[in-house]
Amino acid sequence: MTAEVLDIQDLDGVGPVTANKLREAGYDSISSLAIAPIRELVEKAGLETSVAHKISKAARETIQTDFVTAKQLWERRKTLLRLSFGSSNLNTLLGGGLETQAITEFVGEFGAGKSQISMKLSIQTQLSAAEGGLEGKVLFIDTEGTFAAQRVFQMAQASGQDADKILDGIIYSRVYNSDHQILTVDHAFKICKEENIKLLVVDSILSHFRGEYIGRESLSERQQRLNSHLHKLLRIAQALNLAVVVTNQVQANPQAFFGDPMRPAGGNIMAHASTHRIMLKKSSQGLRVAKVIDSPYLPESETYFRITEKGVEDAVPRNKRDE
Ligand SMILES: Nc1ncnc2c1ncn2[C@@H]1O[C@H](COP(=O)(O)OP(=O)(O)O)[C@@H](O)[C@H]1O
Ligand SMILES: [Mg+2]
Repeated sequence: MTAEVLDIQDLDGVGPVTANKLREAGYDSISSLAIAPIRELVEKAGLETSVAHKISKAARETIQTDFVTAKQLWERRKTLLRLSFGSSNLNTLLGGGLETQAITEFVGEFGAGKSQISMKLSIQTQLSAAEGGLEGKVLFIDTEGTFAAQRVFQMAQASGQDADKILDGIIYSRVYNSDHQILTVDHAFKICKEENIKLLVVDSILSHFRGEYIGRESLSERQQRLNSHLHKLLRIAQALNLAVVVTNQVQANPQAFFGDPMRPAGGNIMAHASTHRIMLKKSSQGLRVAKVIDSPYLPESETYFRITEKGVEDAVPRNKRDE
């Protein structure tokens, strides 16, 4: 791709001053400019709208991504990679493993296993393709301070992997508020590309947003910022063929007369941005249930797993054994 060998300064309308502004705002490649919304180029790099339009157009022309046929979409889908969970139950539930070029959301109450799955996937990503891995590194964005290096070490060691090497392959960022979180993702494209990141985790996606925006008046502003944040994540996933995992909490749904009174937080914005949504629940006998609650092509099925020393493993509930 020509865009990879060109510098942003080679684009029409980008002189040294503008190039500096763009780099400082985190846009350091032509592809990062091509996928950025105009409004963002204006706000973050302080460009005139007309200049932003011109640069965006030049960047998109360079990588020629504007129109694609369904055939091209299908071709792109064929490049999609799948990451093994290290549990065949979870792999089957997700249609053969966690997909790249998509956002997979794990939803559940406190202790459901969202962070454990995220940490396990951070190990799996680094394995060879023969072992179901993606042979890449991980960018782990932690908003709650619950990432535990010692737990990753334990999982890797118990699974017979080189635990020190695994820890070296996880690039960790603790973020302290929603601005910090947004900024971190704005700058993630470069590091993802340079470090061959194949899994980007945000654990959890909404905690800062929910804590900072209280009351109805601020809700639409919150949703707008969240929307742009999520789309940035999706564009990184698609542009770099990597997997994105976000975790989310549940909240009570006062309108639920039937079915589950708990639903994922974040409303429609969250629902639309996630490609696949998986609900995790604690079950009896120390088991956990994972259920597909929303996906464009996965059936609404469920499966069982267990959290163990190794991370996550298949489980069968007692009443379903020997069926
Ligand atoms: N080494 C371990 N062996 C078995 N289970 C563990 C281990 N470490 C954590 N767990 C289980 O994982 C649970 C926490 O899951 P976690 O992923 O942190 O939840 P959350 O969904 O809130 O992120 C604990 O309650 C415990 O049951
Ligand atoms: Mg957690």
